[in-house]
Amino acid sequence: MPAQKRHDKIKREIERLKEKKNAVILSHNYQTLDVQDVADFKGDSLELSIAASKTEADIIVFCGVDFMAETAAICNPDKKVLIPCRYARCPMATQLTPEMVVEAKSRGYPFIAYVNTFAAVKAEADICCTSANAKEVAKIVAKDGVCFMGPDANLAHFASGNGVDVVPVPEHGYCYVHKAFQVEDVVKARKDYPKAEIIVHPECNPDVQYEADFVGSTSQMLRHVVKSESDVFVVGTEIGLIERMRNEIKEKKFIPLRKSTCIEMKLNNLEKVYLALKEEKYEVKIDEEIADRARKSINRMFRVLDKKR
Ligand code: 13P
Ligand code: SF4
Repeated sequence: MPAQKRHDKIKREIERLKEKKNAVILSHNYQTLDVQDVADFKGDSLELSIAASKTEADIIVFCGVDFMAETAAICNPDKKVLIPCRYARCPMATQLTPEMVVEAKSRGYPFIAYVNTFAAVKAEADICCTSANAKEVAKIVAKDGVCFMGPDANLAHFASGNGVDVVPVPEHGYCYVHKAFQVEDVVKARKDYPKAEIIVHPECNPDVQYEADFVGSTSQMLRHVVKSESDVFVVGTEIGLIERMRNEIKEKKFIPLRKSTCIEMKLNNLEKVYLALKEEKYEVKIDEEIADRARKSINRMFRVLDKKR
């Protein structure tokens, strides 16, 4: 069967199975466009965890990496959460263990687990945060102006300031996709595209953040480019978001600060989404006691932010 015909057939089958099984597809902004295209909801980690906690579907197919699907499963103990590729694992999440959280907390300050962590880490932390709210959460929970955050040291740097010292655990945790952007790339982009706005993710190195015009989560970047008066943007994050921007905002121009791809995110594809729905695999299962404690950290994030609004 020609590729396009097969592609259209898979899409139709996905729609039929979604309806038949009362399933929803959630897709992170870094998924390929054909996966984003079949999703009921697309967004950043925060938006996806909110969507997961609100859905009335029986099955959630989570197109993202393992910690995101785990978060959906923690928020929905009575639902079936599926991840299309079981090897879609975020390497940064492996950089923080529950033992490291316990050790840091013994020094007397609260621990904020970035949502890019496994359930057992969230279970030991005081609260979670995402790239969209790290600054706010740190300001609210810091004790005597100090708190811990992990595993991303660049996000901890971003959340610091205004009298809050966010100490990274481990000291140099990082995302390889965002670590690839160098300050020289920003300097070159300024020269090559003098009229462009440079926007980057808070997982980028501090010097890259400092030289950029805007720093935010993937969906914050998307909202920023929609409302900004600029027509050209140089974007420092995973290529999937740039593809989404190009696809949805045709009248503006988006240039990657450097092409950087999250290999793990790209392990999901349309065929695997179809198989996930058809065969109800791969189910995300979390130990109940760990999930209960991890849920408290996630809900605390929602509660403290709700109170503030
Ligand atoms: P966002 O929450 O900003 O979408 O980021 C998730 C992520 O994994 C970034 O690398
Ligand atoms: Fe993990 Fe980085 Fe990929 Fe995000 S982009 S899922 S932090 S490896």
